Amino acid sequence: MKPRKLIPVLILVTVPLALVLAQSYFAPSEQEAIKTGGKAYAEVFLNQRPDQALCSLHRNRLPADILPKFLEEQRALIKYPADGKLMGDWKKGEAIFNDLRKANCFSCHFGSPVHLGGDVGPSLEKYGLNRGQSEAVQRYTYEVIYNSWAYFPCSVMYRFGALGGLTIEEITHVVAYLLDPESDFNTKPAVGSK
Ligand code: HEC
Repeated sequence: MKPRKLIPVLILVTVPLALVLAQSYFAPSEQEAIKTGGKAYAEVFLNQRPDQALCSLHRNRLPADILPKFLEEQRALIKYPADGKLMGDWKKGEAIFNDLRKANCFSCHFGSPVHLGGDVGPSLEKYGLNRGQSEAVQRYTYEVIYNSWAYFPCSVMYRFGALGGLTIEEITHVVAYLLDPESDFNTKPAVGSK
């Protein structure tokens, strides 16, 4: 068969296969149980993205044998700024970090000089002063914000870049807010700090 003719055949084979695989994360009995939650509930559960389905299935604790592939796939979702600069404008980052309707970082993290932070995630108080601004720290911080699951599989932390909550540029602004030693985040006391 000519390669051109192979394409429709490949599509015919792979699309149903992908659908079958997506469904097979749950056993038939589990699928039935999920359906008892009502139509809307069942739709959310049974139509999860494959990575979310894995987290649901394993109650957010992925077994060691699937972990390396999972992390690799999450890492592959991360995109970087074209100019390679991971630290943008901390003042713009401040607005994004402290806006409930934007990134809402403070609701889970302590350390903001603007709002009292939550304790769902670790404290980020004086993050930039504690970690420094090395290339590795910039990259780690950018990547965690872009796709937390590349480091913390199944974490409750939003996956800002991977799921489209923030643009690449906005993420670089937040990175600067956390890391720039001149940023209010590192020079002003966190609300609630002792
Ligand atoms: C829904 C809660 C939640 C939100 C919102 C959230 N995070 Fe997180 N974050 C977490 C949790 C929880 C962890 C720790 C990872 C884990 O154990 O799941 C974490 C980890 C981190 C880390 C790594 C900390 C370290 O010590 O290395 C950074 C940096 C971070 N978050 C920054 C942010 C920023 C910046 C925002 C906003 C753009 C944000 N987070 C929004 C929950 C959240």
